[in-house]
Amino acid sequence: MEQIPFALNDVYKGDCFYLMRQLPDKSVDCVITDPPYNANLDYENYDDTKSEEDYKQFCIRLFYEVKRICKKTFIITPGMNNLHIWLGIKKPNCIISWYKPNTVSRNQCMGFDCWEPILYYSLSEVIKHRVPINHYSYLVNFEQGVDWHPCPKPLKMMRKLVGDYSNPDDVILDPFAGSGTTLFAAKQLGRRYLGFDMSEYYVQKMKERLSQELLISFDGFKSFELNKNEDDYVKEAIEIENNHQEETE
Ligand SMILES: C[S@@+](CC[C@H](N)C(=O)[O-])C[C@H]1O[C@@H](n2cnc3c(N)ncnc32)[C@H](O)[C@@H]1O
Repeated sequence: MEQIPFALNDVYKGDCFYLMRQLPDKSVDCVITDPPYNANLDYENYDDTKSEEDYKQFCIRLFYEVKRICKKTFIITPGMNNLHIWLGIKKPNCIISWYKPNTVSRNQCMGFDCWEPILYYSLSEVIKHRVPINHYSYLVNFEQGVDWHPCPKPLKMMRKLVGDYSNPDDVILDPFAGSGTTLFAAKQLGRRYLGFDMSEYYVQKMKERLSQELLISFDGFKSFELNKNEDDYVKEAIEIENNHQEETE
């Protein structure tokens, strides 16, 4: 099998579409990512104001490149406003709702969205992980010490996604790594990781973040492998949900 031409457990600066093209087919286990939402956010060097058609092409390109390089699982937070685009590209195997009452955004019906979809795609012949609970509740946490990036995802939530939908030692790619939250979660949970971002500044700051000592271990987060009987799943789901509740309280 062809080797990945990047050292793992590191982040690289560049256009992820170019960098992903350097990866051999089926060379990473999971892609867990949070691309820009085309929502006019103030990134360091990315213009977040594409036309609807250009943004749709961006999403299509992303899906097919991920499908080529990824063996098992693709998880993406597409943003509420882009859900229709993703459903049109490929129906996900599951949609998880992320309830985040402290950061609502305007919707087109004079109200507010207080949740976001998280899409789960299985890219292998068989689905490798269960989605035991498809509703999360995580506050957007402004106290992560990541004030240098406009939209870091909650670390606890990324840890839940990494923990539930990958296995120890898996290679996880985040092509839109931003402040490195997915990668930090992967590191905490003993996964190998690879991150890309087009901003030199974010990549430098991410490297600093990822070099921090791990102060906590999370034995409660385990993956759901499809080689157990139903009772084991139920017990495991209850145990993980209990841990998860304690975490979010
Ligand atoms: C929504 S943010 C990711 C935030 C991340 N999930 C976190 O928790 O910090 C999207 C990131 O994608 C980066 N980006 C946008 N287009 C890119 C591209 N073509 N290649 C690499 N990075 C890109 C931006 O610089 C930005 O940091």
